[in-house]
Amino acid sequence: MKKRIICESSRKLATKPTIFIVKVNSMNDLKFLSREELEQIRMEFGTPSFVYDENTLREKAQELQAFPHAFGFFPRYAMKAAPTAAVLRIFNEEGLGIDASSIFEVERAIRSGFGTESISLSTQELADDFRYWAQDGVKINLCSLNQIRKFGSWKLGEPVGLRFNPGTGSGGTNRTNVGGPSSSFGIWKDDLEKAKELCEEFGLEVERIHTHIGSGSDPEVWKKVAGMSLDLVRAFPSVHTLNLGGGFKVARMPDETATDLQEIGEPVKNIFREFAKETGRKLKLEVEPGTFLVAHACSLVSSIQDTTDTGSGGYRFLKLDAGMTELLRPSLYGAQHPINIVADPEEAAQRETIEQVVVGHCCESGDLLTPAPGDPEALAPREMPRGEIGDFCVIDSVGAYCSSMTTKNYNSFPEAAEVLKKKEGNLALIRKRQTFEQLIENEVVS
Ligand SMILES: Cc1ncc(COP(=O)(O)O)c(C=O)c1O
Repeated sequence: MKKRIICESSRKLATKPTIFIVKVNSMNDLKFLSREELEQIRMEFGTPSFVYDENTLREKAQELQAFPHAFGFFPRYAMKAAPTAAVLRIFNEEGLGIDASSIFEVERAIRSGFGTESISLSTQELADDFRYWAQDGVKINLCSLNQIRKFGSWKLGEPVGLRFNPGTGSGGTNRTNVGGPSSSFGIWKDDLEKAKELCEEFGLEVERIHTHIGSGSDPEVWKKVAGMSLDLVRAFPSVHTLNLGGGFKVARMPDETATDLQEIGEPVKNIFREFAKETGRKLKLEVEPGTFLVAHACSLVSSIQDTTDTGSGGYRFLKLDAGMTELLRPSLYGAQHPINIVADPEEAAQRETIEQVVVGHCCESGDLLTPAPGDPEALAPREMPRGEIGDFCVIDSVGAYCSSMTTKNYNSFPEAAEVLKKKEGNLALIRKRQTFEQLIENEVVS
């Protein structure tokens, strides 16, 4: 008997939300791929596939290495942004360290070739197994009073870092703001004395202070928090390193402004110098961006597999063979990504430019790739060349928190493949598409 599928989308889209028009697209306006390469990707790897660009990854790593500093600098990569081994290996070669957020990420970084001493862990969940990695040299930033108690009770004799919530945060959206009273990340600033007492009680030497206030932070707030973090350093005479986290803005869309690393780094360099004059302490600086390093280095290559029109007063929809199973940021934050429709060049010239809504393949109205900025629930049609079945739809600047942060396997769609465009120009598979057998392999039917 045929089962009836009730699709969420038919229920939720009953009322028509406000229309926002974002005029950004032009045919074949791709970041680093040619039309011929798209054809090759479709033939060899299939769609949807994430395609990373080695040149961009290396350029970004080198730009980060030039961050201004007064007395030494160590840049880390927040691997949660994109943890595939091929990406990690490139950053390892470029001399970056790792910021991990779980022991599983620690394990992945080590298997990708990072030495334990170049990895630091700031985690919401301090797993018991971490003690073995700590003995092997992985550094920890303890993120709560309970983590201090737990790590202290292991009596490992290893120095630690402390992650504080400095009381102020800033993010591109409320959900990516991880500082201030609404955030559970880090030891709350007013618990400074308690944290000190606990470290003394367990004989823990504090060598690092860590703050990270959000993703897509306002550069002014970031600089201000750098100053506030130095006050935390003052409370711990044994601290030699201040890690100011990541959060640097990137401009995915024409109306967005990227953070200039030189511009925010210079004043921070100066306050480190002033701090040294005042205290005699020459602090080493660490930062650990994810977005800055990978956001622009990846495109999602998908295919238009259907179109639909809901008539006058409605919308023309382009339905992709990808969606929230690959790219959740639009549904989660109302995040904006450049979208390019790529058709056969001869045909492309004939296509009119019209307003269209791009949706994913999941049976869920939230699977929307063109929401209004900052409002995941509002449809925002984009002016783009008319898309047709079989065209490529290439979504750009999807390197950070896309492949790594999805509704993987929803509707039982397999995980997409990942490809690397190498610096020599050839395309190499770096993560195979998940097979159906892999998708169900852990199920037990008793
Ligand atoms: C502790 C920590 N450091 C660094 C980052 C990287 O942030 P971004 O990708 O905005 O640079 C994050 C992001 O969540 C984080 O939680």
